[in-house]
Amino acid sequence: MSSGGNPSEPEASRRAVAEIELAALLRPEIEELRAYVPHDPPGIRVKLDANEAPPSASPAVREAVRRAIAEVPLERYPDPRALRLKEAIARRTGARPDELIVGAGSDEVIALVLTALARPRERAPQPVVLTPSPTFVMYRVSARGHGHKPVEVPLDPSWDLDAPMMKRAIEMMRPNVLFVASPNNPTGNRVDDARLREVIEAATGVFTIVDEAYVDYAAEGSVRGWREQHPNLGVLRTVSKIGLAALRVGWLEANGALVAELDKVRQPFNLSATSQAAAAAVLEDAWDDVLRDVARVVEARRALAEAISAIDGFSVTPSSANFLWVKTPGSAEAVFDALVKEGVLVRSFHASGGRLRTQLRITIGTDAENDALVTALRRARGAA
Ligand SMILES: Cc1ncc(COP(=O)(O)O)c(C=O)c1O
Repeated sequence: MSSGGNPSEPEASRRAVAEIELAALLRPEIEELRAYVPHDPPGIRVKLDANEAPPSASPAVREAVRRAIAEVPLERYPDPRALRLKEAIARRTGARPDELIVGAGSDEVIALVLTALARPRERAPQPVVLTPSPTFVMYRVSARGHGHKPVEVPLDPSWDLDAPMMKRAIEMMRPNVLFVASPNNPTGNRVDDARLREVIEAATGVFTIVDEAYVDYAAEGSVRGWREQHPNLGVLRTVSKIGLAALRVGWLEANGALVAELDKVRQPFNLSATSQAAAAAVLEDAWDDVLRDVARVVEARRALAEAISAIDGFSVTPSSANFLWVKTPGSAEAVFDALVKEGVLVRSFHASGGRLRTQLRITIGTDAENDALVTALRRARGAA
């Protein structure tokens, strides 16, 4: 996991676990994991570390949420089938409701997939989850937590899929699940279509998930249309990155028979009635407003990328997401620390070492936040 945070402390964790009376019952993989702790230094006034969107410029979004929540019968359990929400998602995306499973964020959906698709292959001690690297850290964390072995294939020098290496890993490791985030977190680029197709085609008998958490910011749009030729392809989406992270609503679109199996391990009331109602209301009544917010971020992304690239020694990978992948002159740590002193929080990958040592991930914020960031970066240049 990244940065600005502490390095992993497996030894300390092992010692602490040994003191718990029930330590022998814990799965060994759990010892190697760390609970998610947000990096929260004091004095931060500009928070650009979590790929959240700026608040909506339109009152219609909040109004849709307010009305929807006011009508929720608080004494009742939520709809366990999330029918209204699934229909709203289906209308906006073209999916079929019976091909959708919704969860408390895509994080939960990832966990559901790994709970269900956990049978080891013949003669293999553990099921395998394959991902490129660097990518969204939850694939690895959730894989470990569910008893899968995570296997990572480095992205190529332009942060795109290394298709030959991915194909070799598929052949050798025979993963149960393959995750490809496109646009990718933390690198921001959409993976090349031809390479992605090549990898998906090689992944026979593997459940391949293209995670489109950031697809709303990508001009090329979704690969969900590929599902027709590739029945083992699932597409993961979320409302977290388009201004509704507080709701915790994500979904997977996949083959209906597989979705029915995944549904067996989903807790019946996994998604609160308020979240279901609020997300459905925004999809139904305020979607154009959300899209206008997205367009504003895309415009700000262009301006911010230009401003950062103009600072001596910095460069930016072309982004199709709501954040920028920024190469710093020298270690990213010095720039990260200098930004924190200015009250600006971004995500640094220096602790991962190698080619990530000089990389920051910076979320696109409001105009005022972006200006504050650029000013702070220019000053930080002295510290780099
Ligand atoms: C690629 C990717 N997928 C999924 C998620 C998680 O989304 P959610 O908030 O829906 O759990 C993130 C969040 O950072 C992400 O970057």
